[in-house]
Amino acid sequence: MSRAKNQFVCQQCGATYSKWSGRCENCGKWNTLIEQALSSSGSSAVERSVLGGTKLQPQSLGNIQQEDVAHRLSTHIDDLDVVLGGGILPGGVMLLAGQPGIGKSTLLLQVAHAISERHEVLYVSGEESASQVALRAQRLGATEHDRLSFAASTSADDIAATIRSRQYRLVIVDSIQTLSLAEVASAPGTVSQITNAGNAIIRAAKQSGAAVILVGHVTKEGTIAGPKVLEHLVDVVLQFEGDRYGGFKVVRAVKNRYGSTSEAAIFTMSQHGLTIVENPSAALLAERQNADGSVVLATLEGNRPILVEIQALVNSTHFGYPKRTASGFDLNRLNLLIAVLERRTKLELSDKDIYINVVGGLKLADRAADLAVIMAIASAAAGRRLDDGLVVFGEVGLGGEIRSAQAADRRIAEAQKLGFTQAISPPSGVENDFIHAVRDVRQALINYLKT
Ligand code: TYD
Ligand code: MG
Repeated sequence: MSRAKNQFVCQQCGATYSKWSGRCENCGKWNTLIEQALSSSGSSAVERSVLGGTKLQPQSLGNIQQEDVAHRLSTHIDDLDVVLGGGILPGGVMLLAGQPGIGKSTLLLQVAHAISERHEVLYVSGEESASQVALRAQRLGATEHDRLSFAASTSADDIAATIRSRQYRLVIVDSIQTLSLAEVASAPGTVSQITNAGNAIIRAAKQSGAAVILVGHVTKEGTIAGPKVLEHLVDVVLQFEGDRYGGFKVVRAVKNRYGSTSEAAIFTMSQHGLTIVENPSAALLAERQNADGSVVLATLEGNRPILVEIQALVNSTHFGYPKRTASGFDLNRLNLLIAVLERRTKLELSDKDIYINVVGGLKLADRAADLAVIMAIASAAAGRRLDDGLVVFGEVGLGGEIRSAQAADRRIAEAQKLGFTQAISPPSGVENDFIHAVRDVRQALINYLKT
C-alpha cells in the first residue's frame, strides 16, 4: 500500500502522530507538532541506509584550500563589513532581525544598491509593492545602477527557483514571515511555513552560490518571531536594535560562522537613509548638562569604546510600592544594584521611586555599567553632582566590591581622547593622575560625590 501520507512530528521529542494536536502527549510540550511528509517505505529505508552509503573521504584540515576572502561582496559601509566578518560571503545566508520600523528595509536597499554597482542583485518583497519600494529607492538615491532588480512575491518556491537560476549574486528577501511554500498547508508566518520556506531558500543559496539576506521580524519579547531552528540554519544572524524614533540604531552579529560576534555598527536615520555615526561618544555627550544624577559611563559597544551618559531620577514614593524603571538598562540588574546600595551604604531608598535612563537609545549589556548606575542613583538621591571631567566604569558585586572590566585601556583611551580628566576604575594595578581605582561602592561615593 503506497499512499502519500503526512505525519505530525513533535519538534521536542520526535514522537509521531497521525493527527495534529496542540500538545504532544509524549513530552507534554505545547505547539511543537509539525507536519512532515512521510516517506512511503518507513523502516525499510533505514535498513537500506545501514547497508548502503559510501565511505567518506576526509582531508587533513591543514591542506584544505581556504575560500578566497577577496570574493566577499563589500556593502560599501565599512562598519557593516566588519560586523559581517569582511563583507557578504557568496553562498552565505544571513538573517537580519529587528523590530518593525527600525530600518531593516532601508538598510538592505542601501546595501543592495551598493552591491549592484558591480553585481546583479534582486530585492524580493512580500510586504511592499513595487511602487512603494521604488519611492523609497528614489529617496535613498538608490536608482543609479540598473543591475538592481525588484520583484514582489510571497512564494518561497518561486524565490528558491529564482535563486537557483544563478542570475543574481545577492538576493534579499523581505521578509521570511510573509513567505509560504506551496506544499505546506499552514498560513504564512507559522512555524512550519517559516522553517520549510527558510529551508527551501537556504538550499537554493547553497546550490547556486548566491548570497541571501532574509529579513526577520522580532516579537514583543525581542526574540526572532518563528522557530529557533531558523537561527541554527542560517550562517549569520544580525540583530538590529535601538530606538525607533531617533537615536542610535545598532547592528551587531549575534551569530557569525565567518567572523567575530564582538563588532557593532552604529547608525542614525536621516532623510537619506541610514548613515554611520563617525564619533558616537561626541554625539552622545553633545547635549549633556552636568546635573545631579548624571554620570558618564565608559562602555563598550562591540569592540568599540563609547562614552554614554547615564541619568538617574530619585523621587519620594507617594503611594504604594516604590516604582523602579529603566530605559536602556536591565531592570533586574537595577533592582540588584539598589539592594547593594541600601545594604552597603547609608542611603535609604525603600521609599523612593527610581528612574534610570541611558541617553541616546543605547541598550547596555555591559556589566561595567554597574558602577555608573550606582553613582547616578546616589548622586540623584543625595542631590550632589560629580566632577565635570569624570568618567566611570566597573562591575559591582553583591558585597559592594568593584570588579574588573574588560578592555579598561580602551575605555580610558576614549575618555582621554574626548578631553575627560579622570576615570574611576576598578583596581587594576595602574594608577596615575587620570586613573583613580576604587575598591568598593562606599569609597566611590565618599570620594567622588561633591558637596
Ligand atoms: P523601514 O526600513 O521600512 O523599517 P523596517 O523595514 O525595519 O520595518 O523604515 C523605518 C523608518 O525609517 C520608517 O518609519 C521611515 C523612516 N525613514 C527615514 O526616516 N528616512 C528614510 O530615508 C527612509 C527610507 C525611512
Ligand atoms: Mg520593512
